[in-house]
Amino acid sequence: MKKKGVQLIKDGRRIDGRAFDELRPIRIEVGVLKRADGSCYFELGENKVIAAVYGPRELHPRHIQDAKRAIIQYRYNMAPFSVDERKRPGPDRRSIEISKVSREALEPVIMTEFYPRTTIDVFVEVLQSDAGTRTAGINAASVALADAGIPMRDLVTSVAVGKVDGEIVLDLNAYEDNYGEADMPIAMIVRKNKITMMQMDGKMTKDEIKKALKLAKKACEKIYQLQREALIAKYSEEIEREEQSDEQSAQWLKV
Ligand code: CDP
Repeated sequence: MKKKGVQLIKDGRRIDGRAFDELRPIRIEVGVLKRADGSCYFELGENKVIAAVYGPRELHPRHIQDAKRAIIQYRYNMAPFSVDERKRPGPDRRSIEISKVSREALEPVIMTEFYPRTTIDVFVEVLQSDAGTRTAGINAASVALADAGIPMRDLVTSVAVGKVDGEIVLDLNAYEDNYGEADMPIAMIVRKNKITMMQMDGKMTKDEIKKALKLAKKACEKIYQLQREALIAKYSEEIEREEQSDEQSAQWLKV
């Protein structure tokens, strides 16, 4: 989008060897933080993010409470060591914008009406970045909210699509993000086919946007499955552990 003169596609492959419609490898781990009510570690290629959810808990000061529902507070933060050039710690315009759009991407699925006067706090910490951190953050936050037991209508899933050397590609890396023609992060409720976030940096034609959206939807279906599997894996392990500990207690009682 910003810089020109770099070849990003050669022989039908991208700079990191991926096909146009190929996602970077994804790893999801649920419940990684002891003190949070819910948490998730999400890896997307070289992006590494952690989401921590606290609440619902009483909101202070009282005058910012909503008598009808919980409010969601979302803080996206990039660690100073997460980027090539050290990032100055603390919020900046970019992180405030990302926090806002990410909160709005998740709000439609959270049943805030069950918890009036409270807050649900979501913290997303970017430990390492390679473009796509807001999408990784939303995916992690969505799983962490479910891990915290917050009633949700569904999960939210996110991915970026864009245009690089005239081709519509999925899940841009930092190089493609910097030197490509367009980057379009999307978040959606997969089963409802409903988009909850759509941003665009750069330019694409109407037809290109249509093609990109199709690509994003297919990728979100895959990521959604991985989010579900990660949650199921954690809770299956937990049930197994509990059953084992029950068995052990029963044996001890026999002695
Ligand atoms: O990370 P995401 O694609 O959601 O947001 P972006 O604003 O498009 O940033 C793209 C990438 O630029 C980030 O993932 C970082 O790798 C890099 N970046 C950076 O190096 N220093 C910053 N202060 C902000 C972003």
